[in-house]
Amino acid sequence: MPHDFMPGLAGVPAARSKISDVDGQAGILEYRGIRIEDLAANSTFLETSYLLLFNRLPNGTALDAFTADVMSHRRIKFRITDLIKCLPEHGHPMDALQAAVAALGMFYPGRNVRDTHNNYWSAVRLIAKQPTIVAAFARVRHGDDAIAPRDDLGFTANFLYMLSDREPDTLVAGVLDACLILHAEHTMNASTFCGLVTASTLADPYTVVASSIGALKGPLHGGANEEVVAMLREIGSTDRVQAVIDEKLRAKTPIMGFGHRVYKVKDPRAVILQRLAQTLFAHCGKSPLYALAEEVERACLERLAEKKVYPNVDFYSGIMYEQMGIPPDTFTSIFAMARVSGWLAHWLEQMKENKLYRPDQIYEGDHGRRYIPLDQRA
Ligand code: ACO
Repeated sequence: MPHDFMPGLAGVPAARSKISDVDGQAGILEYRGIRIEDLAANSTFLETSYLLLFNRLPNGTALDAFTADVMSHRRIKFRITDLIKCLPEHGHPMDALQAAVAALGMFYPGRNVRDTHNNYWSAVRLIAKQPTIVAAFARVRHGDDAIAPRDDLGFTANFLYMLSDREPDTLVAGVLDACLILHAEHTMNASTFCGLVTASTLADPYTVVASSIGALKGPLHGGANEEVVAMLREIGSTDRVQAVIDEKLRAKTPIMGFGHRVYKVKDPRAVILQRLAQTLFAHCGKSPLYALAEEVERACLERLAEKKVYPNVDFYSGIMYEQMGIPPDTFTSIFAMARVSGWLAHWLEQMKENKLYRPDQIYEGDHGRRYIPLDQRA
């Protein structure tokens, strides 16, 4: 049956889902029916991951068991560390993460994606091991040793420890954990869809997550957080904001961290991130980029509000991560560490009722052309 062509599949449903919902006009995001504001204020990343995966808030016993499972699977095989050591030091951390996650699948070869036991442990491993991989690449590319997880540290504090080899700051770890909650899930976005297309072939979950990581890396999706900080550095001072934004708009260059396919108001995650940024800055000093970012937001409001283009989740996150001592090219990997829970929730949901993705196209090429031998071509 012929359908209208929708570039970028805008507005075309690709699945039925019970995982999350966005009201793009009202600026409301819910995970399993719970408002994101509520989760960011009261939950933890691991509890939110459980909610996304299993559609219920865990009781104390269930949360302890899930947390213990994740904690005990944070280590990576020495061959994965060796693989990471072989990657070029100037390579992008998202490429290192994608390579290492794809390689993980070779160590855990259970291919039966109908096996719920196997699927649970695959999900646990993917959530548990990504921070270890991200921290390992961040260190070995500078010639430092990768650091093993510490059993006495929670999920996010341990990541900061493995990254910096310093005792993690409790407040910073708490703010980062809330950031992970905000990034954990977001309906049918490009990386989730990409993973589901791979999953629809019944590929294993490591391959599914590796394909999602590839889609997340691009600057129109998760890669925007790194680009925002680069843009703010390029602007340099508040008195240049208006001129640089005007120049970018004249050249039709997108303002990074602005605009969204679904939100027609300010992204609620950006609003929460700004509040978290105040807590972070009160504790460890204000980022000089923050005032610049606020000025960019003001300038864009004047110029882009009529198009309903407002800050998205990527606009303020990088500024906060940088203030936590995280290198800019690692920002998107942190996004992946969080979004893996959403990818996996969608994968588990789809495995219950899978159908191979095989869309159609509108062919606009020629028919019936003749093959011309090489020596007769003009
Ligand atoms: N800067 C300037 N103008 C913009 C921006 C922006 N960031 N975003 C949208 N617009 C304008 C477009 O130029 C277009 O104007 P026009 O109608 O005069 O041609 C109008 O708003 C509609 O934009 P579209 O490109 O049709 O919107 P689409 O839904 O395809 O794009 C996207 C969404 C890709 C996110 C876009 O807003 C963008 O490129 N943003 C910058 C990159 C970014 O921040 N990505 C992260 C998104 S959040 C996430 O993935 C986690």
